[in-house]
Amino acid sequence: MTETSLHIVRSVDAVRMQVAGWREGGERVALVPTMGALHEGHLSLVHRARQMAPRVCVSLFVNPTQFAAHEDLGSYPRTEAQDCAMLAAEGVDLLYAPDVAEMYPEGEITRITMPGIGDCLEGEHRPGFFTGVSTIVAKLLIQVAPQIALFGEKDFQQLQIIRRMVIDLSLPVEIEGVATVREDDGLALSSRNVYLTDEERAVAPALYMALKSFRDHLHAGGATSEVEQRLVDGLIAAGFTSVDYLSCRHSEGFSRIDDVAALKGHQGRILGAAKLGRTRLIDNIAL
Ligand code: PAJ
Repeated sequence: MTETSLHIVRSVDAVRMQVAGWREGGERVALVPTMGALHEGHLSLVHRARQMAPRVCVSLFVNPTQFAAHEDLGSYPRTEAQDCAMLAAEGVDLLYAPDVAEMYPEGEITRITMPGIGDCLEGEHRPGFFTGVSTIVAKLLIQVAPQIALFGEKDFQQLQIIRRMVIDLSLPVEIEGVATVREDDGLALSSRNVYLTDEERAVAPALYMALKSFRDHLHAGGATSEVEQRLVDGLIAAGFTSVDYLSCRHSEGFSRIDDVAALKGHQGRILGAAKLGRTRLIDNIAL
């Protein structure tokens, strides 16, 4: 298939009409929301979507409300032509690529906020981030009206926030989480990895290694308090500029866990975020 065979729409009306047609014909529709600069991580969501529904829509929108003023909105990688070629090759049925005015009509003020789980970890270090994410994802789900929407575990807190929002707002959509795709050396694929210099790229997998050491320590019966600072110091010694957090949490409410016993049968997650030069990397693994 060639790039031109990908059907692209840029308005709410057009995406609604296309998806309504499929649904009237009895076809299930899966949505994969993205900000573009697509890589194999995004494509694994598309592959899973393909298995779950006969029609797959991908959205591409670099959402300004989830970037703080000092963040990389202006320089965020934009590679639409290449993204289209990748999606056409995957047999994606529809690309929804609205512009800012379509998503945020003049005078708009409505926001979705999620206190607690939206204020810790990423939310603490990127104030307003999850308000931007939950607002745009709610808009996309309402506009596209898919039966299924897929999100990566790479952004685990985002995935859990979206699951919570969909329940709270009674949105008629099933949320599917997809495992993190990694490079051979363990670095989680990310659109922001293109910012890394060769030297930084060599250091980057240390974040994933730190998460695994954290998990090994807890599984061996150790406590968070014994290992957290040592692993943070290790990342700095490896070449990271700063560490925003390295933390073990309950997978749902994100309250802190000090050891495996504190899980009490629930699931746990070890999450980390750190800066390497001007690039901020995040990653997480199941406890
Ligand atoms: P973006 O960073 O483009 O990611 C789009 C989707 O791809 C997210 O669900 C993300 O978790 C998933 N993803 C990214 N890297 C991955 C990897 N290595 N393995 C598996 N999945 C991966 O996340 C966003 O965009 C935005 O916040 C969005 C949800 C689109 C709202 O604007």
